[in-house]
Amino acid sequence: MQPTQQILLNVKTVAVTDLQWGDTGKGKIVDHLAAWADIIARGTGGANSGHTIFENGVASIFHLIPCGILYDAEGKVNIIGSGVAVDPRVVAQELEMLRQRKLSCNHLQISLNAKLTLPTHVVRDRLAESKEGSGKIGTTGRGIGPTFGDHALRVGLTVNDLLNPDILSAKVRGNVVFASRFVNSYDPELVKQTMAHSHLGSGLFYDAEKTFNVDAIVDQYLVYGRILCPFIKDTDSLIQASVGVKKILLEGAQGGLLDIDYGTRPFVTSSNCTVDGLAKGVGLNRSHVDLSLGVMKGFYMTRVGEGPFPTELGGSQSADWCRNATREKEARDCASVNSLTEFLQGIGLRKAGNEYGATTGRPRRTGWLDLPLLRHAMLWNGKEDVVLTKLDVLNECEQIQVCTHYQYMGPPYHFGDRLLSSGDYLSVAIPAAEVLEHCKPVYRAFPGWKKSLKGIASFQYLPEELRTILDFVIVETGVNPRMISVGPDREETIFV
Ligand code: IMP
Repeated sequence: MQPTQQILLNVKTVAVTDLQWGDTGKGKIVDHLAAWADIIARGTGGANSGHTIFENGVASIFHLIPCGILYDAEGKVNIIGSGVAVDPRVVAQELEMLRQRKLSCNHLQISLNAKLTLPTHVVRDRLAESKEGSGKIGTTGRGIGPTFGDHALRVGLTVNDLLNPDILSAKVRGNVVFASRFVNSYDPELVKQTMAHSHLGSGLFYDAEKTFNVDAIVDQYLVYGRILCPFIKDTDSLIQASVGVKKILLEGAQGGLLDIDYGTRPFVTSSNCTVDGLAKGVGLNRSHVDLSLGVMKGFYMTRVGEGPFPTELGGSQSADWCRNATREKEARDCASVNSLTEFLQGIGLRKAGNEYGATTGRPRRTGWLDLPLLRHAMLWNGKEDVVLTKLDVLNECEQIQVCTHYQYMGPPYHFGDRLLSSGDYLSVAIPAAEVLEHCKPVYRAFPGWKKSLKGIASFQYLPEELRTILDFVIVETGVNPRMISVGPDREETIFV
């Protein structure tokens, strides 16, 4: 029996989520499992995520169409579920990319309930992140927060509205009135410049007098409606009817630490990135999921955008560097995972792991594995079955550090009925930014394995040093490793 089949024995619905701040290499795991599944569905996030798909050596980056699309020709159904923020401009582009590459997408389905991203959302996101905005999050600028925000405020649209011209027109008009109040509080010149962005039709939706050219938005969205029409379906019903019958793979987006409710708020995304959010986002609930796999990088972490990162190599110097990211190319030449300063070591780790955003190209901030944050993420992601990825990135590393707990070094802080005082130790992270920014990591150091993991196909042949660290993480957190990825290729995966 193939090992893949062993972990999939007696399961019908599998969810893959991320236990960190995203970018843990879920794409490869989903790709692996897509070969088994009949249906591959996304339920959270939007065009803020990105995965690279290789076909015949050619790489394409997709933001909304699920990773399983390469199996379309085999009749597998790929679904963009109800919980996803759908920017039709991005889907139309991705459909065109598939068409040009002669890849089939006959079985793609987009939920009629998915939340529709409008130009009003993209411009609001970008203005909030501008120098005039209050409190930068470092978003991807894809309109995600405003799309989900409008949904909660009941002024949002759904994908189904694209199919009903009169309803679309009325709802867009209503949304524009709402959005204008926010947009018009910004400097008109900044608004004009922002509206010129290519993601906003390069100025097509701008009106010098009224800010938004509503007719242009409606016309363009009707065009998108015609392009997307063959794919728009009641996917919730399809998935509900398929549970226990078909093999369903739920593909998570972002990561547990970016979850709107339980992530490191306020530096989070705007959907529920845990397994519960994922199940709900495709029309199911958690009890339908037979196997929930949480993906984490093997012994390091990354973060893009703003927000506290206690184990960041190089601390605030690294965060500033990644924010500006102008001299990364030169610095890479003199940095390695064994550099003597933590800051350079962080760049070395980024270089070794090719840690640059698929959606924005931004350098990802890098740091050691943080067990207090992992323990927190596990509380909200439920079962402990995990997948460790990218272990080969640390092949050259002389010494690997694992953060076992924190020492809180901030002012007295009331956490409900608990008072945190400077010097207190924490073994489970309190995800509030105002606490995390004062948490000093306490590390345990381990010798690295200093050899290539190429060709290792079984757990018992992993280097002893690697297994020692893994055993330590298992004992400390209770994780149950099910798969270990030791390289980018599909074969470079060990089943435990
Ligand atoms: P938004 O999702 O674009 O609103 O961005 C909110 C926060 O989530 C920012 O810190 C982003 O960098 C982060 N984020 C969103 N999507 C991803 C992702 O796919 N990987 C990593 N971080 C992400």
